[in-house]
Amino acid sequence: MGVTDTGRAPEVKQFDESKLGVKGLVDSGLTSIPPLFIHPPETLSDLGPARPSSYSIPTIDLSGCDSGHRPSVVEEVGRAARGLGFFQVVNHGVPAEVLDRTIAAVKAFHEQPAEVKARIYRREMETGVAFFSNLDLFHSKAASWRDTLQIRLEPKGDMEEIPEVCRNEVMEWDQEVWRLGGLLMGLLSEGLGLSPGKLQELTCLETRVMVGNYYPYCPQPDLTVGLMSHTDPGVITLLLQDQVGGLQVKHNNEWVDVTPVSGALVVNIGDILQIMSNDEYKSVDHRVLANPNQEPCVSVAVFCNPSNRENEFKPFPELISSDKPAAFRQFNLNEYMRRFFMKELEGKSLINYFRA
Ligand code: OGA
Ligand code: NI
Repeated sequence: MGVTDTGRAPEVKQFDESKLGVKGLVDSGLTSIPPLFIHPPETLSDLGPARPSSYSIPTIDLSGCDSGHRPSVVEEVGRAARGLGFFQVVNHGVPAEVLDRTIAAVKAFHEQPAEVKARIYRREMETGVAFFSNLDLFHSKAASWRDTLQIRLEPKGDMEEIPEVCRNEVMEWDQEVWRLGGLLMGLLSEGLGLSPGKLQELTCLETRVMVGNYYPYCPQPDLTVGLMSHTDPGVITLLLQDQVGGLQVKHNNEWVDVTPVSGALVVNIGDILQIMSNDEYKSVDHRVLANPNQEPCVSVAVFCNPSNRENEFKPFPELISSDKPAAFRQFNLNEYMRRFFMKELEGKSLINYFRA
């Protein structure tokens, strides 16, 4: 169902044309959220902090992975990828100052004067840089309480297009993601019993898109969300979150909080890796609650995707046997991306189009 079915089209258009984003609404001093942000009862009834449960997102220490400890790190990474599909990493080699600088730069972008941000308010990615609120604004049932700065990191666009307030920091962040992403892909490949270079040989780190999310204070956090429940379509996502929190992951039909760990990065498995791993690794639903705190919440996610769009992707032959037949058919990324952009961002699940 799109906006035209719900009769909210004029409101949506007006919000979009203002180019102010959600932060602009908050800055105008509003005390209740506009109706276009109110989610349907089936979403709202399920909101709220996670109940205390026996699950938590594992935190994995990467410091041993160039030494004799590597097999145990591989084992931990593999277990997390097969279970919750999410884990945090510490001792990952990215200096704490770089983490802080990256969050601060993205925050600074969003906190510039409205007219500066409005100049790059757009949904088209031709220039490789866009500021928008709700990528799926015109397709979703309800909008979410979040603004986004999206930057294509690789293949590189014109670096001058990246707003100056965060340009150096974004380029520095990409360097770190490239290095750490390579390390993680090695561990994840080995966790499947494959050679460490396998995922990178398949170009899985070569297309990178960054989203700098800004979740301002929400006056009615029980009526909307920060980010709808979804799975990530790519291979892996590296997520840097600040200390405010709000990210939750679904496990056994329960929501589990991804509690911020100082200095840690969050890693999660995307749909393509679930497919390539023949269902061993899990791409799981996750969401962000609307931010009830006065302090805004900032996160920086980098989605890693294969660059070779013509190549056929399918479960690794090494992981197929008579006991475990291929769970997915072969597809190429052109078809995959076409289907991804056709559907609403909400809900499950692209992955089922490709089930064998
Ligand atoms: C995403 C995502 C989580 C966050 O952008 O796909 O899940 O904390 N982000 O912003
Ligand atoms: Ni996500």
